[in-house]
Amino acid sequence: MSEKHKDDITGVETTGHSWDGIRELNNPLPKWWLYTFYACCLWAVGYWVVMPAWPIIWNGQWTYTEGVIGYSDRGSVANELAAVAAGRSEVMQEIAKAPLAELAQNPKLSEVALAAGKAAFGDNCAPCHGSGAAGGPGFPNLNDDNWLWGGTLDDIHTTLLHGIRWEGDEDTRLNTMMAFGDLGMLDKQQINDVAEYVLEISGQKYDAKAAAKGADVFAQNCVACHGENGKGSQQLGAPNLTDAIWLYGGDKATIEQTVSKGRSGVMPAWGGRLDEGTIKSLTLYVHSLGGGE
Ligand code: HEC
Ligand code: HEC
Repeated sequence: MSEKHKDDITGVETTGHSWDGIRELNNPLPKWWLYTFYACCLWAVGYWVVMPAWPIIWNGQWTYTEGVIGYSDRGSVANELAAVAAGRSEVMQEIAKAPLAELAQNPKLSEVALAAGKAAFGDNCAPCHGSGAAGGPGFPNLNDDNWLWGGTLDDIHTTLLHGIRWEGDEDTRLNTMMAFGDLGMLDKQQINDVAEYVLEISGQKYDAKAAAKGADVFAQNCVACHGENGKGSQQLGAPNLTDAIWLYGGDKATIEQTVSKGRSGVMPAWGGRLDEGTIKSLTLYVHSLGGGE
């Protein structure tokens, strides 16, 4: 049904559509709606011209209309990243140049260094020392104030730079726990006795008779590195045997194994692999973990 008709009540023309006698008034669209619509059309055309908009095939390749101002999201992200990297490398160079003690005193630099050190620790150190730096058997806990090689900023820096028993670095920290059993320097009985002595000085249950003999074995074989009182030496990386903190373990079987087979934990040298700014940042970070001296 299509037939023009004027509505009696409103005086408005109908569209001519009618459904079961119900007709539709042909009211014009509101002005505000129309103008908004036209404005949007204009905006769209302007946008196509100014901004990257339409996918097109050009020279047989998919590309897009770039728009007259040449804006690109990807380009602006690249610019921002370049700016951040430039800022970072500037600060990292300052960190690399600053003496460690000064670095620790400088609030602006040390804040960046601690953040950079934390990130670098997660990337490089966590596989061995754990993400919380708590370590594990053979891998020292870096959160406590118990140090094998020293916990001052300079000590930690040297450890990181040159590593521990790392073959590729001639200034690496050397000295190892010898395999007294395997090398035939001590027999089974002596190893048993000296282990009892270590149990004694570390405040554990021990066999007094064996430990007395073990004290002699210790005096002859162990004091050179672990010291007369067994408190160890940071110069030699020899652990304190009188505390409750163990790198490998303080039970008798583990002590016997350490003495019999020896130990030589290896920590890579980071000099040359990480830049100096990152190594200093790591030094500050490790020092800040709680046990820095
Ligand atoms: C391949 C495993 C490994 C990785 C990776 C590693 N370490 Fe170590 N680290 C060790 C071992 C093993 C020791 C103990 C060496 C020893 O027995 O004297 C050690 C010792 C240390 C020490 C000396 C602790 C002390 O008590 O004197 C520091 C500090 C240290 N690591 C920091 C780091 C930092 C920082 C990183 C990352 C840049 C790192 N380590 C990466 C294995 C590793
Ligand atoms: C040449 C120096 C040297 C001598 C001598 C030496 N040690 Fe050690 N000892 C070390 C070093 C270095 C370590 C740490 C090894 C490592 O970090 O991998 C160590 C580690 C140990 C440990 C492991 C401690 C732990 O925390 O798990 C025990 C136990 C030990 N020594 C006992 C002895 C006894 C007993 C003797 C004498 C029979 C002895 N050492 C002689 C250098 C020495």
